[in-house]
Amino acid sequence: MWIKFLLWAGLVHFSFAQSDSISWLNYLRSRSYRYRYVSNHGDYYASLQAQHDTEAQDCPLECECPPAYPNAMYCHNRNLQHVPFVPSRMKYVYLQNNRITGITDGVFDNATELVWIILHMNQLKSDKISSKVFAKLPKLERLFLQHNKLEQVPEGLPHSLQDLRLDHNAITTVPPGSLRGINNLTALRLHYNAIQELGGAVESLASLSFLDLRGNQLSKVPKQLPTKLSQLYLDNNLISSVPVDFVKKRPELRFMRLSHNRLTDAGVPPNTFNVSTLTELDLSHNKLEKIPAISTSLQNLYLQANRIKEFSISSFCQVINVDNYSNLQVLRLEGNKISPRDVPPEALLCLRKATSINL
Ligand SMILES: *[C@@H]1O[C@H](CO)[C@@H](O)[C@H](O)[C@H]1NC(C)=O
Ligand SMILES: *[C@@H]1O[C@H](CO)[C@@H](O)[C@H](O)[C@H]1NC(C)=O
Ligand SMILES: *[C@@H]1O[C@H](CO)[C@@H](O)[C@H](O)[C@H]1NC(C)=O
Ligand SMILES: *[C@@H]1O[C@H](CO)[C@@H](O)[C@H](O)[C@H]1NC(C)=O
Repeated sequence: MWIKFLLWAGLVHFSFAQSDSISWLNYLRSRSYRYRYVSNHGDYYASLQAQHDTEAQDCPLECECPPAYPNAMYCHNRNLQHVPFVPSRMKYVYLQNNRITGITDGVFDNATELVWIILHMNQLKSDKISSKVFAKLPKLERLFLQHNKLEQVPEGLPHSLQDLRLDHNAITTVPPGSLRGINNLTALRLHYNAIQELGGAVESLASLSFLDLRGNQLSKVPKQLPTKLSQLYLDNNLISSVPVDFVKKRPELRFMRLSHNRLTDAGVPPNTFNVSTLTELDLSHNKLEKIPAISTSLQNLYLQANRIKEFSISSFCQVINVDNYSNLQVLRLEGNKISPRDVPPEALLCLRKATSINL
């Protein structure tokens, strides 16, 4: 029984040490010795030892490392305040939904095989993340830091990253060099932060196709965005204008969302959205008075809750005949100043593909 007590004492010791990462690391180092000592006392503990050896010899006590997933370490949902030392065999670490405030140098030192670090829903602050803590991870592809308390995009991110999630933080600045060279990054989530200006920090991201900037404080569509974008979400900002030829310069752009902004007709240069590569355009909840010209290739157009007074058929179709018509499938115009009486009869021919038109 005293042996059981020893184990119990070990756990107790551990929870005290959590507030002090150094003594905690020392504790980890001494742990394997303690287990070996325990194993000398009877078959039951010997079998526990055997199990322990194969399952999780190097697994931090507060985590789980199931034998079926030898490269994964599960430490989520358990009130942790520190990132435990990650053993070298790990590729995936799950640390979400804890109370982690910072990341000290050293915890990832042996974990050079890491592919995913999942750290969302913690209390991370930028000044408590050691500057080089991620830099030494040459295989890291996913870094989830959403729902924390970061004030800026972390610096020294590895160039191998593909999916970076930083949404729901308090980010105001994206330092110019912070994302440089991350040429495999395809998705960047920065929504629900406090960014007023993006600067040129994301422009050079050669593979970036998904960029979410919803819920920030941008006053215009940033000029310096990558050219490979296919989905761009800018809803819930303070945007009043779009740069000339913004869409034309981004031929991969399919989905563009700008709802809940301050767009006026004057802020949208002619033919900004009349580009055949676009599939979906959300301009709802703005201050537009006219329907902007769109391409006949566009499929979904959301214009509800603007100040539109006229159903201008020429915005959709320049020519209407057997071969010339719009491919629009969904058109939303409710919450404007037009009624069904304002829709000209040719609209039915022009919008013959539409499955839903809301007025
Ligand atoms: C880190 O890796 C080195 C080399 O493989 C090893 O000797 C050392 O014990 C590891 N450190 C920890 C704390 O696991
Ligand atoms: C980027 O992706 C390519 C292709 O998958 C890979 O060969 C290359 O090593 C990656 N670059 C980095 C810095 O990881
Ligand atoms: C939209 O662009 C097409 C092709 O570039 C052009 O023919 C058409 O006139 C434009 N529509 C409007 C309303 O300007
Ligand atoms: C309109 O249809 C005619 C044939 O009826 C075709 O030659 C012409 O290219 C079409 N115009 C546009 C703008 O698609």
